[in-house]
Amino acid sequence: ITPHFGPMQPFILYKGAWMAKFIVQGALAMEQRFKSRPTDLFLVTFPKSGTTWLKALIFATLTRTSYPLDQHPLCTHNPHQCVPVLESEFATGRSQIIEVIPSPRVLNSHIPYSFLPQTITDSDCRIVYVWRNPKDVLVSLWYFTVKIMGGADKIATFEQFYDSFCQGAIGFGSIWSHVLGYWEESKRRPEKILFLKYENILQEPVKHAKQLAHFIGCPYSEAEESQGVVEQIVELCSFQKLKNLDVNKGGILFPMGDLNISHSYFFRKGEAGDWKSHLTQEMAERIDTITEEKFKESGLKL
Ligand code: A3P
Repeated sequence: ITPHFGPMQPFILYKGAWMAKFIVQGALAMEQRFKSRPTDLFLVTFPKSGTTWLKALIFATLTRTSYPLDQHPLCTHNPHQCVPVLESEFATGRSQIIEVIPSPRVLNSHIPYSFLPQTITDSDCRIVYVWRNPKDVLVSLWYFTVKIMGGADKIATFEQFYDSFCQGAIGFGSIWSHVLGYWEESKRRPEKILFLKYENILQEPVKHAKQLAHFIGCPYSEAEESQGVVEQIVELCSFQKLKNLDVNKGGILFPMGDLNISHSYFFRKGEAGDWKSHLTQEMAERIDTITEEKFKESGLKL
């Protein structure tokens, strides 16, 4: 067994992916009890691929006419308080909070496509999938894990962590299989799955915010566009804006036994390419080779 380093032990191999047992229990409970609504919007990501940002963007887009933007809930709440993680709510027995959310609900999941219950895959609800350069995901995940565990000395060396990541022995399994699962399905059903990339959104946020609004069924009107509403939504959800809000500077979001996840842990650099300061050339090349090998049949490019 390849060791996995980090919180939420123990890990088990489930349907070919390394998963925290706790998450598998949540996924199984979802399979039995979760009922999707046709209007549901799911944000799915491999952890550290831009979940927090897209939670904010989708939630803000959908609720933009319900509040003056300077009094929007995102000014006083962490995006994770606005959009729950399905499998965690089911794993911790809090699934009733999902049922009372009014439609259209925005829900988040990190589970691979092959684990999604039929109520999601076979219904009219829509999925926004976001992926990110695996090298930046690795670095982001390392820092996040270090924070949760209370120090690098409590995990492993960065090299060991890297090795686990390359082997897919990490929470939610291999990032490459995760991405490919949603990519293949998005090619088959583009009306159901919008497939986005963190780096592309970073480069052209306004264009992607419009695409997102269109996909989730609330496109910007001409009047909104001319009033600059898209730009205001992008600004409301920007890294600098969110990171500097009081709510995101501290406070506990998820209690996890002795380990606590703070609101602040979700905001680090918010950039593309930070891997360059962390990976040796050899480490980067190994990830690039895996990416090329895994994606070669799919048409997907970094
Ligand atoms: P870094 O650690 O590279 O800075 P997730 O939300 O999936 O957990 O991913 C966290 C990553 O997204 C972190 O990356 C974090 O800094 C970045 N992030 C959080 N909010 C963001 C935003 N509004 N815009 C861009 N990146 C953001």
